[in-house]
Amino acid sequence: MEFETLILGAGAAGLMCAAHAGPGVLLIDHARAPGEKIRISGGGRCNFTNLHAGPANFISANEHFAKSALARYTQWDFIDLVERHGIAWHEKTLGQLFCDGSAKQIIAMLLTELDRAGATLWLHTSIKDLRKTDAGYTVELDRDGAREVVRCRNLVLATGGKSIPKMGATGLAYDIAAQFDLPVAQTRPALVPLTFPEGRFADLSGVSLPVRLSNDRAGFDEAMLFTHRGISGPAVLQLSSYWREGEEIAVNLIPDVPLLEALRARRQSDGRRQLNTELSRHLPARLVHHLSARLPLSGRLGDQSDKALTALVAALSDWHLTPSGSEGYRTAEVTLGGIDTAALSSKSMQAHTVEGLYAIGEAVDVTGWLGGYNFQWAWSSGYAAGKAI
Ligand code: FDA
Repeated sequence: MEFETLILGAGAAGLMCAAHAGPGVLLIDHARAPGEKIRISGGGRCNFTNLHAGPANFISANEHFAKSALARYTQWDFIDLVERHGIAWHEKTLGQLFCDGSAKQIIAMLLTELDRAGATLWLHTSIKDLRKTDAGYTVELDRDGAREVVRCRNLVLATGGKSIPKMGATGLAYDIAAQFDLPVAQTRPALVPLTFPEGRFADLSGVSLPVRLSNDRAGFDEAMLFTHRGISGPAVLQLSSYWREGEEIAVNLIPDVPLLEALRARRQSDGRRQLNTELSRHLPARLVHHLSARLPLSGRLGDQSDKALTALVAALSDWHLTPSGSEGYRTAEVTLGGIDTAALSSKSMQAHTVEGLYAIGEAVDVTGWLGGYNFQWAWSSGYAAGKAI
């Protein structure tokens, strides 16, 4: 069968691209349903973009690469699309936009756009063989057990990253990139919980608090959650994208609390009060108990010198931890690295050296922060390729 364009992967980027790539588009996916990650995203409500999305919220070997696509299809363009489809939404926090109803509305919206564009969608379809020809590409597919051979002028890689193999993630885009000699930046799990030797935080499992988490590369003011395997929560997921094995991270447990002033004032008004009791007004009691194994938290406030209180506050605002690892691709929300942006046009997402070959979405070495940024990259890069085709 002849098509103008074959898009591999009916996820966020592939669906968006298919809606804008003009006539003669075939979109395939090995899954039984399109947009599975959209469906489960944002706790079922899809954090579909971020009001503050801009190039600074993305990690890439080339920090300028995402600028062009993000500028030509912005968060406002996607919000406009959502509103045209009558999908109600709200801002949760930090500019993160969610559906009031269900993430399935976003999938339904993209499928409506796909239909309007006249694109064809084949599910339960995988690639058996792929060859470049003078006129484009010849691709052998397995469609629900039947062999199909498709000839197309353009081929778009939109099969995402390696995160959550259980949901059908594969390294297909990287393999095809390698087949055409496109470089692939080393991949690693990102937006992922960090782990510690067993039992390290067993007594704290379930405790959550606002922190500032940082290392030499980045810092985030968000919540941190202790789990039976380590630490998680938005602050940890964010910093995980900037963390490397063996490195320390710094936790400020009291980012918004003027604790020294509060302790001094309480020492003045109620010196007989226990220090750990007072600390439990500002920090979760289980955390205070945990920290008392390594910090001098017992005794009466009235017996604490200024020097001791200052040292205590310094320790609480600069707690150094060295994670032993991360939860890996099993739970990572995204994949860092991917098809090297040096090989692609930032305007069209087309490979410089292979005519008609495009790469979009998470498969490319552009990774967003937590908070709707990764979908915005999928929409923007999918649109850029679609319009260029
Ligand atoms: P995506 O993964 O969406 O699509 C790739 C498609 O290719 C899939 O449909 C897959 O089945 C298909 N495919 C893969 N290999 C194939 C093969 N060999 N043959 C055929 N088809 C193949 N981001 C955000 O901005 N806001 C959020 O709320 C969330 N929430 C979230 C929750 C969870 C649990 C996860 C795992 C991830 C998120 N994300 C997110 C990240 C977001 O889902 C992700 O960045 C985008 O879906 C990437 O879009 P792509 O289209 O590039 O890949």
